[in-house]
Amino acid sequence: MYSLREVNPMLRGIRVSPQWALQRHSEQITALLQQGEQKPFKEVIDISSGDSHRTGIKPISFVRQVLSVCLYPELLHNDTLPVDVRQRAQRLLGECDGGSVGSYTDSCGLPHVQRSVAEFITGRDGGVPSYPHNIFISAGSQIALKVMLKLLVRGKGVSQMGVLTPQPCPHTLPMLLEEVGAVLVPYQLSEEQGWALEPGELHRALTASRGHCRPRALYICSLHLMQGSSLLGALNDIITISPYCPFPSLTGHVQSRKSIEWVIQFAAEERLFLLVNEVYQDCVYGEGMEFMSYKRVLFEMGQQYSEMVELASFHSISNGIIGECGLRAGYMELVNVDPAVMVFAETLLCTDISAPVTGQIALEIMVNPPRPGDPSHSKYTQEILTNRITLAQNAQRAWEFLIGLPGVSCQPVTGGIFIYPRLSLPPEAVEQARSDGLEADVLYSQSLLDEEGVCVGAGCEHGQREDKYHIRLCVLTPSATLEKVLACLGSFHLHFLDQFSQYA
Ligand SMILES: Cc1ncc(COP(=O)(O)O)c(C=O)c1O
Repeated sequence: MYSLREVNPMLRGIRVSPQWALQRHSEQITALLQQGEQKPFKEVIDISSGDSHRTGIKPISFVRQVLSVCLYPELLHNDTLPVDVRQRAQRLLGECDGGSVGSYTDSCGLPHVQRSVAEFITGRDGGVPSYPHNIFISAGSQIALKVMLKLLVRGKGVSQMGVLTPQPCPHTLPMLLEEVGAVLVPYQLSEEQGWALEPGELHRALTASRGHCRPRALYICSLHLMQGSSLLGALNDIITISPYCPFPSLTGHVQSRKSIEWVIQFAAEERLFLLVNEVYQDCVYGEGMEFMSYKRVLFEMGQQYSEMVELASFHSISNGIIGECGLRAGYMELVNVDPAVMVFAETLLCTDISAPVTGQIALEIMVNPPRPGDPSHSKYTQEILTNRITLAQNAQRAWEFLIGLPGVSCQPVTGGIFIYPRLSLPPEAVEQARSDGLEADVLYSQSLLDEEGVCVGAGCEHGQREDKYHIRLCVLTPSATLEKVLACLGSFHLHFLDQFSQYA
């Protein structure tokens, strides 16, 4: 028998990701606990990924009610369900071939969902128009990103396509770039400046890449915020009476409008395609801030840019407030892309046939929620608000707790669902990790899992400077769960430092 890995050169380069290994290990521990094995903890809590339902965030009722009716249309006659639930389900079923969610849709998604997404974007962007034919529905934002990269990729050797990629970056991105045959060109975000993108860094990265590859795209994954009023008014009223308040003005993980403009100018000058991950757009909780899209800024910069810079924006139902990552749906909006290229995008999406119809329904609801006056409006709004409050309070609580631990620093957070503290680990721990063939933050995360049953993400997954170690925690989780995690993390951390300083 031969090993597939030995004969297929593509598989040789594939590494087992530490994140994957940690999650498998946490599943093994759970299985052992279920078999009755005694551990110092009763359950494993996994807050390493953005899967908020996994740790107990509840689904939004309207989403699940409409889905239930669509899956079992007999419920259309069940008058214990709100009338707008049944009307929405009927409307959506009417858009499905054969009136069934079991049928395929067009590869770009249901035209009705494309229209709803375009209307949502137009409203969000203050009237900058969005058109259904520029919207591509996919089984999550990552699939759409892969399609776009496949369309862009070309060249070999020094002309191989490079993608300017932030460090830290999403852990799936390096593998995705490798898979499509693109070169990762790293640019550093400045931790000391709240993970800001400093002017000059993109120029440095671009210059450094010359002679290795030909950068054609720039990937952005951050929150882009503007000052403004929003749901935050209501949110802050509630937050100020919460136990973890006051809720200060936090400035971390923010890309200012000025910085966005500068990135767009840079992309225009260097003829780079902008790939913008905007999946956390509904997770902005900093005081007086609301999300502003790259597309809106692009259009407000005038024709010189709005008719020239090519851009793909990605969003999905996975990691935002509704958190329905298992249903698999997202969209990509293409701006200033040649219509002939868009045909290829559709063709490539065809290889996946179509995104799950249940996911498309959840996406339609996310972009077109119940309106004021509808029977479900108040419950829907309350549930979304509850999740946002949980997120905002947890982020604040986790930040305050983490910066109180010795050897931990953390930039404040104002958006997104993760917190990304930095660890100053004893040289003995770093040495121990090295001799085990691990990064020090993986050793730390593994020990935390083994000793306390808490699974966090290791920073090395996201690309970090040498000897700078981080962990990543998802804070969109029930507050009680977060409290358990912080208690375990606090005692583990002191024990870990103690253990290694004894060897000093
Ligand atoms: C940065 C980033 N964006 C988006 C996603 C969600 O991907 P999808 O929309 O395909 O579920 C993930 C999930 O891991 C992610 O890490």
